[in-house]
Amino acid sequence: MNNQLSLTVNGVPHMLEAKPNEMLSDLLRYRLRLTGTKIGCDEAECGACTVLVNGEPVDSCIYPAERADGKTIVTIEGLASIALSGVSRQANADEALFAHEPRASSASLDASHLNSPLSARLHPLQEAFVEHGAVQCGFCIPGQIMTAYALLERNPNPTSDEIRFALKDTLCRCAGYPAIENSILAAAESLRTGEPVKKPNIPDSIHVHKSVGHIHLRPDGVEKVNGTAIYTDDLVFDGMLYAKVRRAMIPHGFLKKLDISKAKELKGVVAVLTADDIPGEHNHGLVIYDWPVMVGVGERVRYVGDAIAIVAAESQEIAEQASALIEAEFDLQPVITNPVQARQEGVPQIHEKGNLLKHIKVRKGDVEQGFAESDMILEHTFHTPIYEHAFIEPECSIGVPVDSRIEIYCGSQIPYQDRTQVARVMGWDESRVRIVGQLMGGGFGGKEDIMGQIHVAMLANVTQRPVKLLFDRHESLLTHPKRHATQIRVKMGAQKNGRLVACESELYGDTGAYASLGEKVMTRATTHSAGPYNIPNVRADCYAMYTNNPPAGAFRGFGVTQSAFAVESMMDMLAEKLNIEPVELRRIHALHVGSITNTGQELRESVGLMECIDKVSSSMCQVSGLAHEELFKPRVVSHREGAKDAKKEERHLHRTQVQVGKNLGVLSVLGGEDSYLVRAWGFAAGYKNTGLGGGAPDKSAAEVELYDNGTFQVRSSSAEMGQGLTTVMRMTVAEEMSVAPEQVKVLVMDTDLTPNGGPTTASRQTYVTGNASRYAAKTLRDAITATMAEKYDVKPEQIRFENGIVHANGHSMTYAEVAKEMKSMGQHPRALYEYEAPKTQPLGILTEDGKYGDMHFAFSFGVQAAEVEVNKLTGEVRVLRVISANDVGMAVNPLGLQGQVEGGVMMGLGNALTEEFIMDNGYVVTDHLARYRIPGIMLTPEITSIIVEHPTAEGPYGAKGVGEICSIPTTPAITNAIYNAVGVRVDRLLVDQEMIAREIWERENDKAE
Ligand code: FES
Ligand code: FES
Repeated sequence: MNNQLSLTVNGVPHMLEAKPNEMLSDLLRYRLRLTGTKIGCDEAECGACTVLVNGEPVDSCIYPAERADGKTIVTIEGLASIALSGVSRQANADEALFAHEPRASSASLDASHLNSPLSARLHPLQEAFVEHGAVQCGFCIPGQIMTAYALLERNPNPTSDEIRFALKDTLCRCAGYPAIENSILAAAESLRTGEPVKKPNIPDSIHVHKSVGHIHLRPDGVEKVNGTAIYTDDLVFDGMLYAKVRRAMIPHGFLKKLDISKAKELKGVVAVLTADDIPGEHNHGLVIYDWPVMVGVGERVRYVGDAIAIVAAESQEIAEQASALIEAEFDLQPVITNPVQARQEGVPQIHEKGNLLKHIKVRKGDVEQGFAESDMILEHTFHTPIYEHAFIEPECSIGVPVDSRIEIYCGSQIPYQDRTQVARVMGWDESRVRIVGQLMGGGFGGKEDIMGQIHVAMLANVTQRPVKLLFDRHESLLTHPKRHATQIRVKMGAQKNGRLVACESELYGDTGAYASLGEKVMTRATTHSAGPYNIPNVRADCYAMYTNNPPAGAFRGFGVTQSAFAVESMMDMLAEKLNIEPVELRRIHALHVGSITNTGQELRESVGLMECIDKVSSSMCQVSGLAHEELFKPRVVSHREGAKDAKKEERHLHRTQVQVGKNLGVLSVLGGEDSYLVRAWGFAAGYKNTGLGGGAPDKSAAEVELYDNGTFQVRSSSAEMGQGLTTVMRMTVAEEMSVAPEQVKVLVMDTDLTPNGGPTTASRQTYVTGNASRYAAKTLRDAITATMAEKYDVKPEQIRFENGIVHANGHSMTYAEVAKEMKSMGQHPRALYEYEAPKTQPLGILTEDGKYGDMHFAFSFGVQAAEVEVNKLTGEVRVLRVISANDVGMAVNPLGLQGQVEGGVMMGLGNALTEEFIMDNGYVVTDHLARYRIPGIMLTPEITSIIVEHPTAEGPYGAKGVGEICSIPTTPAITNAIYNAVGVRVDRLLVDQEMIAREIWERENDKAE
């Protein structure tokens, strides 16, 4: 190995000392500080680390730095320079001039950069990604853009198929794959023609205002495409130490012995802490404090991810070595692996109060009477496995001691609750803890629980040095809460005329080792378990049970994903038995204004379910060209129609012959000439509450300030994890102050600088923080009105706000002048507003007037249809098209909404077809990203998004949540389509393609006999 490496990075020559075993990604990120290159997995699975080496895209996380010797590297930071330097598209990147910009250093999402056109600052690919809304959390985007750049270098006019093939290994968990594909097509066209990048064709809201309701670009879009966006792992502090957590790695037992002496003696180790060193409360949690910060000697280990010691050292390598030197002995206990087992008599009790976290009950009418009145009763049990969020950015926390306080830099969905939990464990007043939220590379509910925040606080406090704890993908998979695995039995009673009269459900939810949000999640699963339908008699019982699996908590859909799969499958099964068309059965029972939900809530407004059903129903006919009665029947597809490539079909046939062995003869008859690809549509509906509900106070605060230069800043601690909240906040304030959105800066996620916006969960932030921003802006506007009225001696009604100018009966002032005027009068031009959503009622508790009242203040509704193609020989399922209609109240930013819908559909598709988190007796088998198949661009169907807008009276401009509803009906739409295509009912997720092939074969074999 040479001692020196000579390489050119973004046009700048570097001579660097060679380090053994160093990967190119580490050299770029940690030695050259080019942190635009991201690390999502470190195992060549996600593509986030893609850079160009001599023009070829490589996964820099597995590319040895020494191989880059003498080569030319281009990273995301270099791309704009290539475009702006005037180097022709075909020119060698070597010739590009590159000037490295200084880095931003705070979470402030600054709008000022948008004052010059994107095309003047960005490569057309970067520009197109921003314009088309392909950027959400942004963590995968550098990898996507660099891969796309390499494609366009060799193929300036790619087809969609060629784009998909090129990007097949570059994963996006926000999954805006259609937008990514459209961005690349638009950039390619611009590069070929020299014309400006074409903008997307997305309609405005039907309730359009001056700002809200129009397409608006993300405030953080440019940083996310040019590599300057800062995520926690991109930060470096002077004297920073590196942490490692020693985990139990056994699913159940008692810690008998713990010896940290060897770890402490290792050179470079600065601190090793155990449970004995916890200064305050020993447990943390979001609702119930049952999760130990570290398990102490003599205490119970409840899952493999339990921490038993933490290390801080001068380097990551030393911290890992020290962790491995810690010796532990356990007294192993029998393992509880599923919630049904956990409720059985005589099994070990994982917590002092037992294995039952919560028995949740829903009661409406008289379910026994309903079954007695039924002509037909159908009962079936469904199973869903554990699912993983698989955000592309693994968890990272940095604790920094500042005077007598600790500042914690991290990605968090609930900064103020992080602060509370850290302070409790430190035994401190909360004022001594500051959470400084950073951009998040996705969350989806998986960054609500504390991960490293407490551990870095303890280590930083003891060492009085900054300490970084970065999870690798293995640790991330092992440790953080998952989606609950469930067993759901549904029994439905109906009359001959198609009237559903009774629904009984029994749910078991696996909440794993600790409560996290398990009680809340399974409550939502239970209350939604009879679907968005009018059914007079409903009974549901849910048992949320502790097991020795990783904890389960919030995950997009919050329990409703699981129960929707069960009830929507049952609706189709019932429709078949009743000989009623499945759309019609849903129409008959669809909730509408005036309906009473299963929890006794009267819906008084904003119920767009029927419109969603009707729009999806007619859209299916439009896009397929089929008559309605043909949609749900199987259609045999010719080879030519089903596959663009005859060789691919041969491969399918060959693979089947190998897999199925002795059944070959029968299968080849089945295959015949043209009959093994079968298509059909499937249909499903869903609903999802907006906001916390259930009697929890649902508040969010925001502050709006006018600066001397006439710009505004809106602040709230609410989290931006890619979903687009900051765009909503900006547009809302722009609307109220009558300025361009670019005049509004946004600051989020800092407990010192931003008021408490509450948790980013339950699809609540557009509603509550949207309203907080809106009313804070209104309050400031009222103050400005009073000032102007006094100055010009006019009535407040005579003050008008137009296009950034305040008019007062013939006088006018810019906002910059207004700010100076207010200050000269001793007023500070800022306003704080704490918004509290309408009160809700706990489940099953009667109000004073003897009714059950409103468990939620708003619901979103969604309907999806999926067209699948099933290969009868292999059981392979392809989703060809998805139509998704969502009643979101009002589309505040149609561009962001499109991204949410597309991402939601892809997450639902993964839930049905590709993702499964495998456990084996409490041990995690899915311990690498490669073992958890999140869907890539190749699996992306054609997605049609239909926005339905039934406004809420109280939501900002009528808006309600969308983040979850757009994902909920996807899985049952797909599994219903599979049944319609080949007659195999999927009642256990993940869809098992071998099972489909086997069932088809057994059926065909029976027929043949
Ligand atoms: S970080 Fe390199 S492929 Fe995931
Ligand atoms: S934008 Fe791709 S992972 Fe979030």
